[in-house]
Amino acid sequence: MLKLCVLVSGGGTNLQAILDAIEAGKITNAEVAAVISNNPNAFALQRAKRAGIEHVCVSPKSFAERRLFNRALLEKIRSYEPDLIVLAGCMVVLPKELIAAYPNRIINIHPALIPAFCGTGYYGLTVHEKVLERGAKITGATVHFVDEGTDTGPIILQKAVEVLQDDTPETLQRRVMEQAEWVIMPEAINLIANGRVSVENGKVRIDGGDR
Ligand code: GAR
Repeated sequence: MLKLCVLVSGGGTNLQAILDAIEAGKITNAEVAAVISNNPNAFALQRAKRAGIEHVCVSPKSFAERRLFNRALLEKIRSYEPDLIVLAGCMVVLPKELIAAYPNRIINIHPALIPAFCGTGYYGLTVHEKVLERGAKITGATVHFVDEGTDTGPIILQKAVEVLQDDTPETLQRRVMEQAEWVIMPEAINLIANGRVSVENGKVRIDGGDR
């Protein structure tokens, strides 16, 4: 059974999609061991509570120095002995030590088709604002492994979503979540939990076909 530690910062709709997929049997061989938020007011913590899952806040604001926060976060994650760390709307820059400690064992959902609209400064609603500013006709979401760069790790799954003429950042964000994020995040976890994902030469291979 793959033990997941899910890191969140906000609403937690991706966390909910994971919990629902486990409940529905769409993710097998995996369980959420804990949910960690940097933000004490994240609604994701309420979702974890409602599901009876261990949840905790580790906030940078509670520490005098970033170094101390980084250490506390790493220790907290280690205490749950996770097999996979899932960044589900986690807006914290991860400590280098954490990334080094879990190579190809941290995944992230990004609300665009990497390598478009990604990197430093591209997070949450801002991504969709930039997609609309540029007049892109197609966007989507990406699940990828996390390496030391920003949105640079091996891509696991992607799903395209149409941009509509009258979209606002909010309507586009909602459609990308519904049509892409909540689909590919659970799917990627299920593939990993069932031993179908490997990384070769920096690229992901999915055994038994593309999906
Ligand atoms: C999601 O759209 C996710 O893709 C994005 O934050 C949102 C969190 O929503 N993540 C990033 O932008 C990471 N760079 P949620 O809390 O409802 O799951």
